[in-house]
Amino acid sequence: MSILEFIKKSPKAELHLHIEGSLEPEQMFKLAKRNNIQIPFKNIVDVKKAYNFNNLESFLKIYYESAKILINEQDFFDLTWAYALKCKEENIVHTEIFFDPQAHTDRGIDFDFVINGIYKALQKAKKDFGLSSKIIMCFLRHLDESSGFKILEKALKHKDKICGVGLDSSELGHPPSKFKKLFKKAIKNNFITVAHAGEEGPPEYIWEALNLLNVKRIDHGVQCLKDEKLVEELSKNQIPLTVCPLSNIKLRVFDKLKDHNLKKMLDKKLMTMVNSDDPAYFGGYLNKNLIETQTALNLSQEEIKTLLINSFKSSFLDEKKKEEWISKI
Ligand code: HPA
Ligand code: ZN
Repeated sequence: MSILEFIKKSPKAELHLHIEGSLEPEQMFKLAKRNNIQIPFKNIVDVKKAYNFNNLESFLKIYYESAKILINEQDFFDLTWAYALKCKEENIVHTEIFFDPQAHTDRGIDFDFVINGIYKALQKAKKDFGLSSKIIMCFLRHLDESSGFKILEKALKHKDKICGVGLDSSELGHPPSKFKKLFKKAIKNNFITVAHAGEEGPPEYIWEALNLLNVKRIDHGVQCLKDEKLVEELSKNQIPLTVCPLSNIKLRVFDKLKDHNLKKMLDKKLMTMVNSDDPAYFGGYLNKNLIETQTALNLSQEEIKTLLINSFKSSFLDEKKKEEWISKI
């Protein structure tokens, strides 16, 4: 079997996916029309042209703007259902998705519409084609901690649907330490914690996420190689780093895919795997991320296998399920 076939046919887990980032331009137009909302684009070509980012900040501006077409529970259902169908197409058998409730509640959308729409679509995907999933609620780090406390309060009612909390949005200037108390409260309420750290931000932010937010995974974490002690710590404890190669190129964290440090991370025995982050904006879903990265870095079939095994090992599935999937790779 060629590596390409191996990538496509293997069962895979995805651990870093923002559901709002799976909003395809076609669906954006459809929902804008359905909800009678003006969007700043005339057509699909116009949209694609706007997806030319300099950094994380320039992407987030468009990402939050586009999310404004999501109004009703049905919209969140349709968005999530479309992603679930992609999972089926790509042999993604388990997915752990992020959602950004503050991006919606701050526009007057009911928290319950957001979570129920997402949850119901994932339940249908479980029933129709066996996709397993977890939902992780992210706090927007450009907002203050008190806003996070309010959203955590709303999430408590939905503890049966939300397994953990994360931290995303503009990284620079918003270190994990800003949310120390909030994460403490989330842990007290039995949420698992993860955080975006070391995407654009310094290794210090990764240390803070580990030591102050007690995270089980670091999202991105590609800046860790700048700090030898940190690499040692991450490797010793096998802390997962959810790397997103096409995202890193689109947001100019690395110039070209050939310059990506994923192979170096594997060489240092870091627990890393490939994810798509915001596939509708960054040019591809999980298989494309794997295929393009394999080509650019000349990864061996063994290295691809390690990445796929790591995707299950790093998931929040129970140990038995992890073993079952790993044995099928
Ligand atoms: N980084 C930070 N925040 C985000 C991202 C990301 O890649 N995608 C959506 N929100
Ligand atoms: Zn992300």
